[in-house]
Amino acid sequence: MICLLTIALRYRLEGTQQRKAGACADGEAAIMHAHTMFTWLTRRRRATRRLGMPTQTSAEDHRYFFISNDQGEAMRLNLQHFMFAREFGSDRAVPVQVLPQPIELLDVACGTGFWAIQQAKELAPFGANVVGFDKQLPAATTSSERPDNCLLIAGDALDRFPFGDAAFSYVMMRACSAFVPRAHWPAFLREAARVTRPGGFVEVRDFGVVVSESQAMTTLTRIFTQLADSVGIYPGAGPHLRTIFSASGFSSPRIMTRQVRFGRPRGTPGGSLMVTDYLAVLKRVTVPISQSGITWNHSPITATRWADWLVEAEADSQQGKKTAVQLTCAVARRAA
Ligand SMILES: C[S@@+](CC[C@H](N)C(=O)[O-])C[C@H]1O[C@@H](n2cnc3c(N)ncnc32)[C@H](O)[C@@H]1O
Repeated sequence: MICLLTIALRYRLEGTQQRKAGACADGEAAIMHAHTMFTWLTRRRRATRRLGMPTQTSAEDHRYFFISNDQGEAMRLNLQHFMFAREFGSDRAVPVQVLPQPIELLDVACGTGFWAIQQAKELAPFGANVVGFDKQLPAATTSSERPDNCLLIAGDALDRFPFGDAAFSYVMMRACSAFVPRAHWPAFLREAARVTRPGGFVEVRDFGVVVSESQAMTTLTRIFTQLADSVGIYPGAGPHLRTIFSASGFSSPRIMTRQVRFGRPRGTPGGSLMVTDYLAVLKRVTVPISQSGITWNHSPITATRWADWLVEAEADSQQGKKTAVQLTCAVARRAA
């Protein structure tokens, strides 16, 4: 407890957010841990505590389609975590040796907190502390899985981040496309720059748009893209990251891309995780799609029609039809 409060003070949590964080730390109710992949694979049911977490915000607030405080979404996010790691070969593009001391990491929109917890464990020998914040606190975490050098709190990433200037040596923003309006991306990165120390790093990892040999998967993707357009977000900000970094005042970001491939004869290491993840995303948007008014071949897209395409896309994948997506990782250093 003392350790958590110390970390919170260290990050100079501001205003109401500071009060929220204090309340979270007090009960440890709001600080929970990601399921391990082992739990997911074995489908073991761990008793999870839902202790008065903030709930999904009001409808007008949300462009964001995925309800993250349920177990299915938590599992999807953890699976996606491993997909990114397998494709890029690591969870972080910047080696610990070049991070400015003291090592303080921030995970923006941290989801289940899995990345933050892993980093806290991995970098504990270097004296690192890790903070993750999300609009919804992770619902599937338990305090026994969270190391003392990791703090997970509530916060709105579309607002001023709840930290003082230059509080961190490294900031991660992974898979944030689904909630950041296109026009807000430069401001989102400028906020990351503000909380990063001179000489520190900002890293963004995101998706592109899926391409597939499967006709059903292609149809689903086209409609999903229309849905994203209709609410003013990128279906995946990956291809736009160079432009966004420039518009945010970062000079020469390092851009790395990986083509994740699934299907016969052979995909890439994260290929099957990618398809499982993507089908889960498409399934989760059934309600917003069916309520969007988007049509296909001049007919409305009902939940049943969407479900039929999902079944077909899954069957095509099982038959080995190819599906691919480009991942982008962009890293920039804040000028010293
Ligand atoms: C696709 S998930 C990615 C989570 C995590 N970065 C990862 O890579 O696993 C997007 C996350 O953004 C969170 N989110 C949505 N709107 C947000 C907002 N305005 N501020 C902070 N987090 C938000 C969601 O609760 C969800 O956990």
